[in-house]
Amino acid sequence: MEGPAETFRILQVEDDEADARLAERELRRAGLVFEARRVETKEGLSRALAEFRPDVILADYTLPGFDALGVLDVARRFAPATPVLVVTGTITEETAVSCLRAGAADYLLKDRLGRLPSAVTTALVSRRTEQERRLLAAAVGQADESIVITDDAARIHWVNPAFERTTGYSKEESIGQNPRILKSGRQDEAFYAEMWKTLARGEVWRGRFTNRRKDGTLVEADATISPVRDASGAVTHYVAVQRDVTRETALQRQLELSQRVEALGRMAGGIAHDFNNLLGVIRGYAELLLRYPQGPDDVRAALEEMVRAADRGARLTSQLLAFGRRQVLKPHVVDLRAALSEMDTMLRRILGETVELEVRAPAPVWVSVDPGRLEQVVLNLVVNARDAMPAGGRLTIEVQSRDGDGDGGSPATALLRISDTGEGMTADVLDHLFEPFFTTKAEGKGTGLGLATVYGIVTQSGGAVLVDSAPGCGATFQISLPSALQGEGPAGEKSNRPGPA
Ligand SMILES: Nc1ncnc2c1ncn2[C@@H]1O[C@H](COP(=O)(O)OP(=O)(O)OP(=O)(O)O)[C@@H](O)[C@H]1O
Ligand SMILES: [Mg+2]
Repeated sequence: MEGPAETFRILQVEDDEADARLAERELRRAGLVFEARRVETKEGLSRALAEFRPDVILADYTLPGFDALGVLDVARRFAPATPVLVVTGTITEETAVSCLRAGAADYLLKDRLGRLPSAVTTALVSRRTEQERRLLAAAVGQADESIVITDDAARIHWVNPAFERTTGYSKEESIGQNPRILKSGRQDEAFYAEMWKTLARGEVWRGRFTNRRKDGTLVEADATISPVRDASGAVTHYVAVQRDVTRETALQRQLELSQRVEALGRMAGGIAHDFNNLLGVIRGYAELLLRYPQGPDDVRAALEEMVRAADRGARLTSQLLAFGRRQVLKPHVVDLRAALSEMDTMLRRILGETVELEVRAPAPVWVSVDPGRLEQVVLNLVVNARDAMPAGGRLTIEVQSRDGDGDGGSPATALLRISDTGEGMTADVLDHLFEPFFTTKAEGKGTGLGLATVYGIVTQSGGAVLVDSAPGCGATFQISLPSALQGEGPAGEKSNRPGPA
């Protein structure tokens, strides 16, 4: 409807012009403001529906070659939201029933048109209500946020398509269920208790959930749950609107983690560098004094002890330098498959009898890396995996090449994946994994420098480390390194050309 809300368009399907005038006069007398048009035939009706776009239709029951049921049929097909009122000279109960069945909003007798204005007004109001309902349903149905309505006993009453998409549960599977089906176990009982307490007070609850999809994967959502009240003010339902923020939070977490590790790396590398120089000085003077053979034996023993301590200190600082990416790398073109096969005996000895080792390397994989450092990376990861499987298990090492996207896209990389079937890690451990001196091992068992070293070596070599783990589900460390072509000169310069498959 254009213009002020009170004006509307009325279409009369009526062969008797005098009857049409009569109806119009009745409506104007009641103060209704409208624009009217009259048609007599089916063709006229179809055209008027398209061009005049009436808000309400008055249909004479008997028309030449046409009747109100025909009008209702055309209206239902081409203007389903437009109410049709049937106006007739006489009406039997039977015709009245068939009109209502066919979708008539009301029917009126021509000799009692006094009721016409109120019938039209009612039809217009219910049309608007119906339009609003449709709009609301379309908006909620097409919203990107997932929407769930539960009753006051927390049974799911309705869900929108976005809910089906994000959770993997269809409408049919969800209705009647408790939203508990989405519980991930990432929130404790206190979290839910607090939520219900807020809702019980009739207040809106806002927070972040980690939900479990039907396929078991987790989804993080920003949620708002609001009580829905009926006319008397009693809470009858709850509506939960949730926005999927899984990707954003993962990116945010990754960014925070790498920033923290970067900062730590700079600090550790800086300290280690100066420290190494001081250790060098201490060791140098100790060695100098050892050259005087006439010194007493106990002094010699003390000096030898100093040299050994300085060496131990230097090993520690070299790990810190690796983490801080301040070591000198001597990269070569290395075949990961060949490198692993050379380490095979040593790895099996480290893993012992109870851990099964499987190496999947179907083809050579050429990378540009310092071979000594590569060995250090693999050893650290394998020792960690062994420690995570005290009762035995399985260690899988996979290497493969991954082609780049070609022109200017991501370069070709080599993947080294080490998976174990051990105890896995909590989210908390994962958060601190690469920090130097972070260890969960008993005093004297681990220094917490293993993964810090791995991180430093891999990033300094132009690669990246990814971890995937959950408590009880083992752990997978995936290292990507820049690919190199076989026989490419003493690398160092990274190659963007795809390596051999
Ligand atoms: N494969 C794994 N499975 C389970 N937890 C692991 C695994 N790898 C590492 N971790 C956890 O990460 C922590 C840090 O590992 P990292 O190698 O840096 O230090 P560490 O093994 O404790 O000591 P270090 O390597 O210096 O001897 C470990 O203490 C352990 O809690
Ligand atoms: Mg370790």
